[in-house]
Amino acid sequence: MSAPPEEILARDLMGRLESLARFSDGSPGVTRFTYSQPWCEAHRWLAREAEGMGLAATADWAGNLYFHDRGLAPGAPALLIGSHLDSVMHGGFYDGAYGTIAGLLVAAACRGGPGLPVVGFVTCEEEDSRFHGGMMGGRSLLGRVEEGELDSVADREGVTWRQALAAVREQGCAALLGASGTTAPPLFRPALELELHIEQGPVLEAQHLSLGIVERIAGYRRWIARIEGEARHSGTTPMALRRDALAAAAEMILAAESAAREAGEPAVGTAGYLRPEPGLFNVVPGNCELWLEARHDRPDQLERLAADVAQRCWGIAQRRKVRLGLQEGAAQNPTALSPALAEVAVKLAQELEIPHRRMPSGAAHDTMIFAQAGTPALMVFVPSRAGISHSPDEFTSEEDLVTGVRFMATLAGRLSERPPA
Ligand code: GLV
Ligand code: MN
Ligand code: MN
Repeated sequence: MSAPPEEILARDLMGRLESLARFSDGSPGVTRFTYSQPWCEAHRWLAREAEGMGLAATADWAGNLYFHDRGLAPGAPALLIGSHLDSVMHGGFYDGAYGTIAGLLVAAACRGGPGLPVVGFVTCEEEDSRFHGGMMGGRSLLGRVEEGELDSVADREGVTWRQALAAVREQGCAALLGASGTTAPPLFRPALELELHIEQGPVLEAQHLSLGIVERIAGYRRWIARIEGEARHSGTTPMALRRDALAAAAEMILAAESAAREAGEPAVGTAGYLRPEPGLFNVVPGNCELWLEARHDRPDQLERLAADVAQRCWGIAQRRKVRLGLQEGAAQNPTALSPALAEVAVKLAQELEIPHRRMPSGAAHDTMIFAQAGTPALMVFVPSRAGISHSPDEFTSEEDLVTGVRFMATLAGRLSERPPA
């Protein structure tokens, strides 16, 4: 080992977190959409940091990045540890960035260890903020992308995934993308996967705990609802004669909320985007696009909730005499993480006397994709102040951040030497 975990210094972590947060578009918080200029610059900076720490940095075709021992042969089995580089719009300093820097520090700390090689990874897109392909980073890293998706997945401006990759090359950033393609296996074979992340919820802070050992991750269903009513003069069309697409959307928003409230925790229902047309004071909106999402961590209850949301929307459309198209978006099934890895993590937390608990995750993470692909996978959370995330107000104390990284370095070192059977 090149450095024992307790020698991972606060400044190694905090300085790099601050540096990474600067790669943003200048608006409040962090906005770093996949393949954007800030994303490319962050990617290049990470590769340089890794090289400065004596590691090699290798990218795959989609721009996922690995930090590894220079001598490690491609295709080798490895313990992968990391997170994602992209952010939501006006996101916080820690979501994805924390696990990314942790992966780098842990890969460096474990370099040359006697067991399974420990490789840091950074996925290119996890948030679905630019594209809506569903965990494009994790799926591309694991060889779970169909070639056709490069043309069918597009951003809001209609730029396809393939075009976005070409633009990265044209911007002189070709080095950020590897030569492999959609059918290539992972650059390193994930024998185990670990991800460190902020909790993004209020539980750990409220219970005065330092670590959360994640047992399962909630799944989601998403819809793009296209509502077609009739655009009419707002001053002359009596209320009884209206087919108002925006008013129908408003009811659907509340229906998603009610369906989740009635299902009870941890069910959640959200409308994240609304675009009425033509969008004027004096026209009853004739069309409206609405994005809806429902989440639950139990498969049968997620299905029930999703069916309820859809049924309520159809009922509203029928009653209001508007046409409804309900296009299903990317979906994730609730995913169980490795009980064996959770057991090792809980034992380690007990041994180190770090206050901890087992818990579910309401947020989605790349670790789901590893677990779905059959890789023994585990996430560990550190507290989020007031449970706030996907906001510039995201905050975790330095002490908790450092505790998390040192814990992961010890856990990774231990698992690499003695992977559970
Ligand atoms: C990612 O942060 C998600 O939960 O959608
Ligand atoms: Mn995240
Ligand atoms: Mn996120």
